[in-house]
Amino acid sequence: MNASLNDKKEQEILVCPDAKSVALEAAATFVRLATDSIRERGRFTAALSGGSTPRSLFEILATPHWEKQIEWKKVHLFWGDERYVPDAYPESNFRMTLETLLSRVPVPPVNVHRIKTELAPAEAAAENYETEIARFFGTAPGQFPSFDLVFLGMGTNAHTASLFPHSNAIHETSRLVVAEYVAEVRMWRITMTAPLLNAAKNVIFLISGADKASVLRDVLFGDHDPERKPAQLIRPARGRLTWIIDSAAAAQLPPESYRLLSSRT
Ligand code: 6PG
Repeated sequence: MNASLNDKKEQEILVCPDAKSVALEAAATFVRLATDSIRERGRFTAALSGGSTPRSLFEILATPHWEKQIEWKKVHLFWGDERYVPDAYPESNFRMTLETLLSRVPVPPVNVHRIKTELAPAEAAAENYETEIARFFGTAPGQFPSFDLVFLGMGTNAHTASLFPHSNAIHETSRLVVAEYVAEVRMWRITMTAPLLNAAKNVIFLISGADKASVLRDVLFGDHDPERKPAQLIRPARGRLTWIIDSAAAAQLPPESYRLLSSRT
């Protein structure tokens, strides 16, 4: 892990046997952090990731064994990023979360802080979300509120949230949320910025699949180049950074760099 990351005591790479065990480990961590946050602060604030990886995590959290361990009325859900499409579109991260989690657990609708992609243009949706986050946390402009948990994924091009290589968003240092057209995926994206993500108490990457092995090694052990590898922007200022990955994605990592976990049942 490149030097500055190595220096941080507050980070860890956990390797699980397969994608299902990544989801189970993530579910257990979600329950633990929710329980601790609610005990300490009376609420739990989590920014969810999109894409395909979190689906199984959300489905697990919605099962009775896990669902009943969470005090949903004190849980507030946000999204780290969103595709600028109507919620009804299959690309929508909100739609995926609604199908796999929100429609199955008793989280109060007022606690679901979605990105309002019905607002136009995309910048209006970003500004609205930024205002909603600042209102919720009571922060002033320039202040970055601290989520209890941020889940992130990573693409094979080392993007995370909707912070893509060579984009403007990766250079944002004062906004909480920005909108940007991403030519690579031919759509507008709304994303939390690196300083907001890095203000979190716990940032957890969930990564699985052999197609991520090479880029993961490059992000963790290659040269520091966030312009090409935006996932390298994620270095929580005071929080904990955890990578929960499966053995396929960990295939190119030095064995001494991670802790092997056995499968949870
Ligand atoms: C999105 C995500 C994005 C995702 C990665 C990995 O909106 O697409 O937030 O950052 O986490 O692209 O996606 P997979 O989990 O599908 O590999």
